[in-house]
Amino acid sequence: MSLTSRRRFLHTAGFAGASVLLGLPARTSWAARSGAAKRLRLVFFTDVHAHPDGGVPTAMTQAATAINAKHPDLVIGGGDLIYDGFEVPAAVAEPQWDVYMQMHRAIRAPVEPILGNHDLVGVRPVDKSAPSIDPRAAFREKFGLDRTWRVIDAEGTRFFLLDSVEISDDDLMYHGGISSEQLGWLEAELGRTDTDTPIVVATHIPLLSAIPQATKGAITPLEANHLVVNNREVLERFADHNLVLVLQGHLHAEEMLRWQGTTFITGGAVCGNKWKGPKYGTPEGFGVLTLRPDRVDWEYTTYGWNARGA
Ligand SMILES: [Fe+2]
Repeated sequence: MSLTSRRRFLHTAGFAGASVLLGLPARTSWAARSGAAKRLRLVFFTDVHAHPDGGVPTAMTQAATAINAKHPDLVIGGGDLIYDGFEVPAAVAEPQWDVYMQMHRAIRAPVEPILGNHDLVGVRPVDKSAPSIDPRAAFREKFGLDRTWRVIDAEGTRFFLLDSVEISDDDLMYHGGISSEQLGWLEAELGRTDTDTPIVVATHIPLLSAIPQATKGAITPLEANHLVVNNREVLERFADHNLVLVLQGHLHAEEMLRWQGTTFITGGAVCGNKWKGPKYGTPEGFGVLTLRPDRVDWEYTTYGWNARGA
């Protein structure tokens, strides 16, 4: 396909003006090991980084409208819902939460959010105010949750929604990691899960990704905040189960990997490069999945907001 016809193809696929998307798989479909018991339409949006300034609330309203237009049965929010709570006190994070919750409530389908590193509040406030004694409290309270990880079932598919953030004392301030408490919980839940049941894992910090190598160089060492450090401990617990899909955020680019029968999708970002345009060629957008008995469809779609024109 020539460059010109490829651009035209992407244009007709719904990415008007997004020539940065050359090479991006706008839509793809693959055979799943067993697939969902019934058809399930799923939206996976991640990395919203909500804040009340500029055109961001307008963009988020557009994103919610575009999500509703996909008529999902279930929506998963992949974390980093607010711009940043980690380095600010609760009073500064609250207007960000207000903007995010407007989008959350505008989505008609059930929305199941997971925690991102920026959704922790008051861990290390730059204004030197007192750190929070419970940085996950705001997330739990906003969504009425007892804890920041859980399992849900939808149309025969079981979803493991993980908390992949571990606060650290070093300069990184947090690492990607699944706590030993969660690993114990995972084992117990998997013990109650039939080995044929289709499973989807959602995690803010990826379990697997080639984006760091692609962008920093093949043998550049990873930092502990790029990926989940104990990813193998997590994945080996699913070895005897039907792990169809892992949905990941954090890196703000769209990517798909296949490893040992599981498809790993890094789902771009609603905010693109924190509301400054595309990141690594991925524009502001979200993913749409259809889980069928014998296959899975994936599409990354924009929602009509362009930071460069805002
Ligand atoms: Fe993010």
